[in-house]
Amino acid sequence: MGIRLKAIVVYLSTSGNTKAMAEAIASGIESRNVDVKAVSFYDVKPEELNEAEAIAIGSSTFDHKMLPQPMEKFMNEALVSVNPKGKIGASFGSYGWSGEAPILIAEKMREIGMAVVDPVLRILHKPTDKDLQECKRLGVDIAEKLKHRNK
Ligand SMILES: Cc1cc2nc3c(=O)[nH]c(=O)nc-3n(C[C@H](O)[C@H](O)[C@H](O)COP(=O)(O)O)c2cc1C
Repeated sequence: MGIRLKAIVVYLSTSGNTKAMAEAIASGIESRNVDVKAVSFYDVKPEELNEAEAIAIGSSTFDHKMLPQPMEKFMNEALVSVNPKGKIGASFGSYGWSGEAPILIAEKMREIGMAVVDPVLRILHKPTDKDLQECKRLGVDIAEKLKHRNK
């Protein structure tokens, strides 16, 4: 057995909608035997970002963007500082009407050289069971991409 591949799912969620997506994505990743945890951007440690070969990031949308102080700061400082170039990225988030935040996250990931998995997954309001299945599917896709790359 080689070293287990690692992934991390980081989220900002005010009322639990994006958090539910994050947990379903993590369960999809876990189902393919990749080490993963879902964690708030607030609690994630730099070494966890560093060790992960795949980083999924989710945020709900506020005033047509992600919340500037916590989340933009996280993207521009914590994420950039672990030198994420070449890591696999994925973005997601719950939204109410316009849903820009996950798109902005994916753009930033590309800008810093991450390989972004499609689709950018956006769910209206509280995810339904069907939505959560879609999230899980994204997690499976992230894990498969990671394994394929590490063959
Ligand atoms: C003050 C406020 C501003 C919001 N602005 C937007 C917005 O510009 N576009 C959008 O799509 N949703 C907007 N929303 C809706 C949230 O993104 C939505 O409620 C989402 O499901 C929250 O998910 P969370 O529980 O993961 O934070 C806003 C919500 C609040 C409370």
